[in-house]
Amino acid sequence: MTLIPNQRHLFDIPDDVAYLNVATMGPLPVAAAEAGQRGLARKLQPWTIPDADFFEDTRRLRPLLAQLIGADEAGIAFVPSASYGLAVAARNITLAKGQKILLLEDQFPSNVYTWREMARATGAQIETVRAAGNASLSDALLQAITPETGLVACANVRWTDGARIDLTAIGARCREVGAALVLDLTQSCGAMVFDVRAVQPDFVVVAGYKWLLGPYAMGFLYAAPHRRDGTPLEQNWINREGAEDFSRLIDYRDQFAPGAERYDMGERSNFVLLPAFHAAVQQILDWGVDRIEATLAHRNRALAGELEALGLPAMAEAERGPHYLGALLPDTAPADLTTRLTAEKIFVSKRGNRLRITPHLFTSDADVARFLAALKRHLG
Ligand SMILES: Cc1ncc(COP(=O)(O)O)c(C=O)c1O
Repeated sequence: MTLIPNQRHLFDIPDDVAYLNVATMGPLPVAAAEAGQRGLARKLQPWTIPDADFFEDTRRLRPLLAQLIGADEAGIAFVPSASYGLAVAARNITLAKGQKILLLEDQFPSNVYTWREMARATGAQIETVRAAGNASLSDALLQAITPETGLVACANVRWTDGARIDLTAIGARCREVGAALVLDLTQSCGAMVFDVRAVQPDFVVVAGYKWLLGPYAMGFLYAAPHRRDGTPLEQNWINREGAEDFSRLIDYRDQFAPGAERYDMGERSNFVLLPAFHAAVQQILDWGVDRIEATLAHRNRALAGELEALGLPAMAEAERGPHYLGALLPDTAPADLTTRLTAEKIFVSKRGNRLRITPHLFTSDADVARFLAALKRHLG
């Protein structure tokens, strides 16, 4: 596969900024920001917005989001956050008292609190899966799934250290024991190939502002075909059958629009965020998720070798997301390391005892060289 050449020209990132922190927030491509600005300007003159446009942006974007994960567009709903999507999933999964909810140790809080609440409400029990030492987290999760498991909620890569979960194997095991599978792909969708046909999850949630390079407060939910007749979180006018005819909205309908659209958030027709999100997702698809993955894997392979030589080992490539480095900091690392790096316009994040380094296609060799030189100085 041919790697993608540097794409910095599509972003507003000055040469003296080394932004290695997509896992915290991806930068908008300039074209996406412009699309959002045009959308905001439309609100100066609301009479120029025809009724049909309340439907147009979501209609155009739904198939692109589906394409990201190998889904059909009828399975896609618009949500403002991962937590909203997880709440939709929790609302529509039934668990019995004593059934187990499997989570990963150090999982992202939105994907923990949702299930703690569900456990309280149903009497189900949370079991947290850990992997000791260098053991595979993915294998540990696979082995923890038993006939008592009612639900597995996890990610494709863990947000703290990039540990990779083999979702095809997890999906197959969940089906074997009849457990539901809910995936938060916020830290992988757009940078790592994923296909719902191989994994067959019940629900997938993705916040769009990281690896999809979208605006904040815009993401999506995927619901499997047998999960599309559930209960939405909100009772809304626009996802009902016949909503296109504004003059007849008071002919109240119980019937929803077909597919997962019933789960769309209120005011989904966001004239600012949707065009920006569309442009960002279109850019991801134009590059190709497989080529993005291969290009970031190549960059990170070299970077992991350099970090290892500096005494900051990341996980072995087979055990981590190819786009994601969580380098273990030595005990002697200064507590304010990320603050010192920020002062030099080098942006990474720290999660637990790991330095989280997440470059993208805008990352240059000069960025990486500057980062490594600074690390050497501050750790030396
Ligand atoms: C794994 C993961 N999921 C979700 C989110 C964002 O969650 P929410 O959209 O609920 O704010 C983050 C943000 O860091 C994350 O790392």
